Amino acid sequence: MTAFGTVFMPEMAISFFDGARWSDAQIVPSDSLKLHPGAHVLHYSSTCFEGLKAFRHGDGSIRIFRMDRNLARFANSSQMLSLPAIDQAATAQMVVDIVRRFADAVPEVPGSMYIRPTHIGTEPAIGKAAAPSLTSCQYVLLSPVGDYFAGKGDNGLRLLLEEDSMRCAAHMGMIKSGGNYASALGLTLRAKQEFHIDQILFCPNGDVQETGAANFLLIDGDTLITKALDSTFLHGITRDSILTLAREMGMDVQERQLSIEELLERVAKPGCEAALSGTAAVLTAVGTLLHKGREYTVGTGKLGPTTARLRKALNDIQWGHREDTHGWLTSI
Ligand SMILES: Cc1ncc(COP(=O)(O)O)c(C=O)c1O
Repeated sequence: MTAFGTVFMPEMAISFFDGARWSDAQIVPSDSLKLHPGAHVLHYSSTCFEGLKAFRHGDGSIRIFRMDRNLARFANSSQMLSLPAIDQAATAQMVVDIVRRFADAVPEVPGSMYIRPTHIGTEPAIGKAAAPSLTSCQYVLLSPVGDYFAGKGDNGLRLLLEEDSMRCAAHMGMIKSGGNYASALGLTLRAKQEFHIDQILFCPNGDVQETGAANFLLIDGDTLITKALDSTFLHGITRDSILTLAREMGMDVQERQLSIEELLERVAKPGCEAALSGTAAVLTAVGTLLHKGREYTVGTGKLGPTTARLRKALNDIQWGHREDTHGWLTSI
């Protein structure tokens, strides 16, 4: 089986900002991006991206999940990085056009077509360390995918609670930008080697935040607790979807600060569950937490019933097994 995100459709949608306006989008070979080696993005990381999915329904139709929210975040990331403003409607058309072109290649569920809009600063200007790129390029890549945590089955993930460092600078957390992932990588690799964990759960100063590529949710009976939105972490669209579904199921959803102390106190009780949410992760059970040399098993250490129920509720909408009452799906 190939690794998640390593197979690409042979063509992508692309559009260029010349300093004044966006060009009409074109469909070009996926490996045809031409960039000056002095391009702003290659030196000063003027780059952001999105990750969303298109699903094949039982009747053969293709639906894109929460495209509007992903493109709103894309526009916000672009703005916060001082990249040229994107036109969300034009980007949406690029997404729809390229997914339509490769509709036949959208896998059957539980697989999907992962969609990767990307925006980069292209101006050849290595003197602009403290100035924005005046030109840019956005493109939409497609990659058919299966399950991100394939092979894990229903076994929960192992997370290290890290309180001495941050995933990225606090004012950058809500931007989906490459530098944030680069900033977390070294820490994550070292922790994987030392503690045999799957991910770090970043908890700066004891405040439970998120992992390298997913949000963290604690489920204690009918209560769901997750950090309230602020600038320090990514505002996951899966997180928002799961919270909506949990509220509809009558759960008490609490968006607030969660300390390591409270987390460890709650997971010690039987029946507690924890999960990671994200477009790739969907909703993946957390089985073990490592903190200061001690291991804490969450519930049974495996996928719990509430996590499974919430994951199914989300998948049912994405896969067309349940009515899309929130208007989360876009037909192509
Ligand atoms: C750092 C980080 N947090 C959270 C998420 C979850 O966001 P979403 O649910 O929008 O995919 C992601 C992306 O998947 C991420 O990279």
